[in-house]
Amino acid sequence: MARLVTEWVNVTGDISIIARESGEVWFHAPGGTEENVDPFATPMTGVGSAGSTVGLLDGAINLGFAGIEKRLARPDPTLVGYIVALVGAYHTSVDTPRNLRRAAGRFNELGRPEVAAYLEERAREETGHDRLALKDLRALGVPGERLVASFIPEGIKPLCKRFDDLCVQDYPIGCIGYSYCLERIAALKQEADIEKVQAMCPDGVDATRFLRSHSSLGSEVTHVEETIAFVASLPANDRIRVVQETYESALIMAVGYNHELLKSDAEMLKELQQAVGEALPYHLSSYPSRGAKDEARPAA
Ligand SMILES: [Fe+2]
Ligand SMILES: [Fe+2]
Repeated sequence: MARLVTEWVNVTGDISIIARESGEVWFHAPGGTEENVDPFATPMTGVGSAGSTVGLLDGAINLGFAGIEKRLARPDPTLVGYIVALVGAYHTSVDTPRNLRRAAGRFNELGRPEVAAYLEERAREETGHDRLALKDLRALGVPGERLVASFIPEGIKPLCKRFDDLCVQDYPIGCIGYSYCLERIAALKQEADIEKVQAMCPDGVDATRFLRSHSSLGSEVTHVEETIAFVASLPANDRIRVVQETYESALIMAVGYNHELLKSDAEMLKELQQAVGEALPYHLSSYPSRGAKDEARPAA
């Protein structure tokens, strides 16, 4: 019988993730003794498998989010928070095709047409997603174009910068880890999450185009599956970098969540109104403010 694949990646100085093809995943503190050499102390060099690669990727996300409280992971949405999230969704989507194509061009130069082809396909699939967020904003009576032109949620800025930076690197393989992180988290959203948002919207308004397509009901699930299969097929060095970047992106996302969660609905509404220079529709400003902010956050 063929031996099961085991993969491992050191993501921080003192934590490595180890994953088996069978689905087992554990975190490991690298170190050995004189008698016992740590077999995971040196980087992996073997082949990947879908079962172990998904363990590493999801382990990296879990580790990145381990710092934020559980209750924040599934907050109840508010309409104002949802608008902020849609603006964030716009910003994390608008440059994605261009950035991915740039990274693809670099892989063509490097003689890696298979990576270039994968990124070009992703760029095609992500095209137009920023428009979905704009349509949702418009459906809610918000001047979407004007709002996104002058407002980017504080917690989203570092995420956009990370992706921009990754895609212009000399060896931009990390952009796959970033995309995986965002898509995997989006794919966790269930029908009930979308229904909650729908229930907050005024009657007859459909403002869930972006959310639906970036949820377990939309294309995100296939994107995630395709990425896992692709990453598993990469050489060990590439898999290591993709997993490390998935972890770094998850850390940045987790900090962003916390940042936005510190704001009340009233504060967010003020920010939005300042950005567009006018009062927002009645159904937003009349929405009861909460002391602590909760929100449904679509990810790109
Ligand atoms: Fe996607
Ligand atoms: Fe997307």
